Amino acid sequence: MARHLITSALPYINGTKHLGNLVGSMLPADVFARFKRQQGHEVLYICATDEHGTPTEIAALKAGQDFETFCAERYASEQKLYAAFRLSFDFFGRTSRPQNHELTQHLFKKLDENGWIEEKTMQMIFSPADNRFLPDRYVEGTCPHCGYDKARGDQCESCGKELEPTELKNPRSAISGSTALEVRATKHLYLRLSHMVDKIRAWVDSRTGWPHLSKSIAHKWLDEGLQDRGITRDLTWGVPVPKPGYEKKVFYVWFDAPIGYIAATKEWADAVPGRDWKSWWYNAPDVTYTQFMGKDNINFHSINFPATLIGSGEPWKTVDFIKGFNWLNYNGGKFSTSSNRGVFMYQAIEILPPDYWRYYLMSRAPESSDSDFTWADFQATVNKDLADVLGNLVNRTLQFCAKKFGPAVPPAGPLTAEDNAFIASLQSAITSYTSNLEAKEFRKATQDLRAIWVLGNEYLATTAPWTAAKENPERAGHILNLVINFLRLVASLSAPVIPDTAEKIAAILNTDSPHQYWPQADSLQAELKALAPGHAFTIPEVLFQKLDDDTTTALDARFSGQAKAA
Ligand code: 2FM
Ligand code: ZN
Repeated sequence: MARHLITSALPYINGTKHLGNLVGSMLPADVFARFKRQQGHEVLYICATDEHGTPTEIAALKAGQDFETFCAERYASEQKLYAAFRLSFDFFGRTSRPQNHELTQHLFKKLDENGWIEEKTMQMIFSPADNRFLPDRYVEGTCPHCGYDKARGDQCESCGKELEPTELKNPRSAISGSTALEVRATKHLYLRLSHMVDKIRAWVDSRTGWPHLSKSIAHKWLDEGLQDRGITRDLTWGVPVPKPGYEKKVFYVWFDAPIGYIAATKEWADAVPGRDWKSWWYNAPDVTYTQFMGKDNINFHSINFPATLIGSGEPWKTVDFIKGFNWLNYNGGKFSTSSNRGVFMYQAIEILPPDYWRYYLMSRAPESSDSDFTWADFQATVNKDLADVLGNLVNRTLQFCAKKFGPAVPPAGPLTAEDNAFIASLQSAITSYTSNLEAKEFRKATQDLRAIWVLGNEYLATTAPWTAAKENPERAGHILNLVINFLRLVASLSAPVIPDTAEKIAAILNTDSPHQYWPQADSLQAELKALAPGHAFTIPEVLFQKLDDDTTTALDARFSGQAKAA
């Protein structure tokens, strides 16, 4: 039994999440966590809301709420939504909680003591009308590169270029709209990454087996030469900076957010006496730590966060494996929260239950390249894979068995060559599926899962129990015995991806929880006898509804209308 610490990138609290966010971090992390739990390992899957920073402050101001109330409300609704998608966090915390304040300040002090923090004087935009500095998005204006007139101080949404607030032409305050802005000198603290390149490179090179995407992004940043990184901001909502002269500043959101992984583990421990957070994070060579994220987050997790932990000089656990994802596109373009383009999680869950989305998204996980969501592809996948290949297999097997032999497992007979061939194919499919899950190759793993369902269908097609039932009812009963036992394994094998359906199948079969075991390829003969002759089952309802063409067309129209309206 091993110990697996798993985290998925902490979702920003402002703005609602779309299916691209889900497939790029939380869902694959959940599938992996469920798989590892089923194998019997000790798993801690941690996530939290990322609550600080200018975007949050601006979203709260727009909503007319104070930061505290805005975040508390958003947290509650995000948590509910993630539960609806069956994301099985062991704990879902918040970066605004005291645990994160304490840990962030602690790590900062260590970095400072060790000489990794430098104070620099810089020119920042100050708004006399607002009586404050305006960092990042608090300034809007015209992009110096493309002329877009609603560019923000951190980035231009139109051309995508990163910006400094002082680069904007015709700048105005995003709070008051004031254009009477000044440039004033102010002090900020920097993490001296430029002096840590060798240390970080050695650490990155010591990580083995990372996917190409993660390694190549880390190396690109290292090769370009690391810049010192500003870790303080002129904001009020955030972690206070424990240094004289910094009373009016807080840490930059990207400094405290990843520390939130540790802090949320501490929240988990603080919630129940006897839980120990430190053994997961401090002096923890027995822990395997895997992070899941979209590719835009990889630099922060492969460079900045390790620099914070390593620079502290303390024995913090650093990540063993970074699983990064490319983008899921919507009809060939980008999913976009700001332009309302694509399908948002709260909308998806009103349309269909979680397993439809979970399966589809994992089968299209953007791993080696970007992938594309289209309603037609979604419809085809649901109707074929879920309704026909899996749903129909469960239904016709059990219905036919009930009709011919009654609703209980028929007696088993001797294994024929056909049966042995089926078992051998199943064995190799399970081996491949298990090793692809192990490697966190989710697209391939989902193909393997489907291939397992297909094997059941093929076995039924070649052995044709409905024909056999006429001349050789014992043989027909034996075939059904084998397939019903196979369905029990299907429930368990499917559980990481479609947990609700797995539970439904197990309930129909009146058998053990699919979440509590993982079928072993080398003991299949025994596994396929778990449901003994006479074991009663219930007649299933249809497991998956098909999506008809009219519904699909209407959904397509509704969502393209939503983007156009925005
Ligand atoms: O990109 C994002 O959504 C960030 N909020 C991810 C933060 S991950 C971690 F470092 F907190
Ligand atoms: Zn631009």
